[in-house]
Amino acid sequence: MDFKRNPDTDFRPLDALSEQQAREEAKALREGIRYHDHRYYVEADPVISDAVYDRLLERLQRLEDRFADLRSDDSPTQRVGSEPVGELEKVSHRAPMLSLESVSGESDVVPFLERLGQGTDRGGARVALEPKFDGLSVELVFEDGRFANGSTRGDGETGEDITHNLRTVRALPMRLRGDGHAPARLAVRAEVFMTRSGFTALNRDRVQRGEEPFANPRNAAAGLMRQLDPRNVAGRPLDLFCYELLGIDGEDAPETHRDMLARFADLGLKTCPLNRSGMGIDDVRAYHEDLRGQRDGLDYDIDGIVIKLDARRRRGELGTRTRSPRWALAWKFPPREEITRLEEITVAVGRTGILTPVALLAPVDVGGVTVSRATLHNIDEVRRKDVRPGDRVRVIRAGDVIPEIAERVDDCGDASGASRSEPFEMPSHCPVCGTDVLREGAYVRCPAGLACEAQLVGHITHYADAQALDIDGLGEETTRRLVEHGLVHDLADLYRLSAEDIAALEGFGKRSSEKLVAAIDAAREPSLERFLYALGIRHVGQSNARILAHALNELDRVAAATRQELTALPEIGPEIAESVVAFFRNDRNRRVLERLQAAGVKVRAVDDRQADGPLSGKTFVFTGSLDNYTRDEAEAAVQARGAKATADVSSRTDFVVAGAEPGAKIERAGELGVEVIDERRFARLLERG
Ligand code: IVH
Repeated sequence: MDFKRNPDTDFRPLDALSEQQAREEAKALREGIRYHDHRYYVEADPVISDAVYDRLLERLQRLEDRFADLRSDDSPTQRVGSEPVGELEKVSHRAPMLSLESVSGESDVVPFLERLGQGTDRGGARVALEPKFDGLSVELVFEDGRFANGSTRGDGETGEDITHNLRTVRALPMRLRGDGHAPARLAVRAEVFMTRSGFTALNRDRVQRGEEPFANPRNAAAGLMRQLDPRNVAGRPLDLFCYELLGIDGEDAPETHRDMLARFADLGLKTCPLNRSGMGIDDVRAYHEDLRGQRDGLDYDIDGIVIKLDARRRRGELGTRTRSPRWALAWKFPPREEITRLEEITVAVGRTGILTPVALLAPVDVGGVTVSRATLHNIDEVRRKDVRPGDRVRVIRAGDVIPEIAERVDDCGDASGASRSEPFEMPSHCPVCGTDVLREGAYVRCPAGLACEAQLVGHITHYADAQALDIDGLGEETTRRLVEHGLVHDLADLYRLSAEDIAALEGFGKRSSEKLVAAIDAAREPSLERFLYALGIRHVGQSNARILAHALNELDRVAAATRQELTALPEIGPEIAESVVAFFRNDRNRRVLERLQAAGVKVRAVDDRQADGPLSGKTFVFTGSLDNYTRDEAEAAVQARGAKATADVSSRTDFVVAGAEPGAKIERAGELGVEVIDERRFARLLERG
């Protein structure tokens, strides 16, 4: 029986097994599960599916339930969490668990390397280089190859017994590998941590259940490791790396750190794949820089590197300070937290018109990046943190996210707070365009969508989107450049652009700029439905735009509609109505609409009568691009002849007109037996009509 490769999970009924057979099967299952645990949790290279793994574990559980004397502490079934303990017992460490001296600059690393190199050849001493993990340090003890117990570091001499919780950590083998050759006793130092991805998921869960989120992965891991009930710990995203040998009986201790790590790996103990070794400050500096660069992309927190003398035999000669050995040194990364002065709070207007308070800071280097501004999110946040200009604040930069103010450090004033500046208030006008702002809960918004420069790029991109006016080649990047070069100040300016204007932009040639001008030109006669959607009125998506267009038929009527008229329409609630009314009442928006008209934009009214015309009663659907018509022109052409153009193919569709690169509508037409025609036939139909 072998459950390692291609495990057979077609098990025999339990009743049919003799005790001997059950024992053999349980043994093979344990070996198989251990093998797969190692592949999955240590090597990150699983060879069976989760479902097959679950079947193996479930079968073992059943065998152990049925034959009680098959149970054992080191069985993989025990990982799901044994009985709670009454309290965490004290444990004396086999050897003191020392801490590390840490430094923050290269200038402190050089003398350390020199000391290590004394008495060695010119090349200096070889050093082991490792990440400095930001988790919690534990001692793991294995006896005759079995995980016997584990404890926290505590004060370095005595820690607390957390064996029950460590058993649930899947990367920790309950049995060492290499049958029969395990040391009689092995004590290892390791770092237990929570993965960052697991941490985020765990906190999301906690918040959803109304529980307080953990502050960081380190606290989460430490909190879990001190639980009395391991069932609270089982299944959590905990992981570990082994990095020191605290004691070994029954075999010689490896002579170098590298050999030690290799021996760990042989025994199935997980070591960090980022471990390296090197010589001299250049190697050390390169490693420090490399890890600093990788830091944000790792799934676990590190806060520096650890440099250790590789020759373990010589470590003793160097001796120990009170609490930290002379053979190792931590070189921390620059902190990602700094204290600085909040100079001023300004307000930024985002692409959607949301006003965000932004703290302007006296510039500080935070973890290698100069920070001079930090978001304050919204007014509630400003009030909660009670930060005001002149305050000293703690700034943090986590991952690659925008810097944030963690808290106010002091209030630089007397007890009455008299010398602090006034609390910040959000402005009543948009700082960019001056329009009166709207308040929506914690958020403040500028309603002058079209006319507010801060929202311009977003608006134009939306206006040109395929679902809106479908202006090919007017994406975000091009729009941004047009706005930045002062060529476009509102939507109407688009229609005044010349090919020469555009050709002046980097990346545009004669042909591409002419193409863009032609694409804009083709969007001069949009349907009302598309135009309403393109305006980017809040709450007016494609579906509401269609409802408004078909109910009111003309742009002027939509613009003049009152709240009551609007709410009387199907599916238009008060919020939507309010938004439409506010949009068309805004002077600046009106001016943009006037300017669009002056630039030659004619919004086509919806003609629902469609009564008479040569194609009346017919329904067309277009797919793919036509050579001689834009989509809007084609739709206008059929409407002018009394027919309807709809977006989706249904049994009521008469013709699907297919241009180049048609979409799935063709298949739909095939399914429904609707006639598909090409552009030539379409043109003839129009002519005849
Ligand atoms: S070796 C005497 N290696 O850093 C040296 N420690 O005080 C023993 N740490 O609590 C420690 N990563 O938990 C070592 N690669 C690493 C480490 C590491 C993190 C922790 C350790 C200790 C703290 C410093």
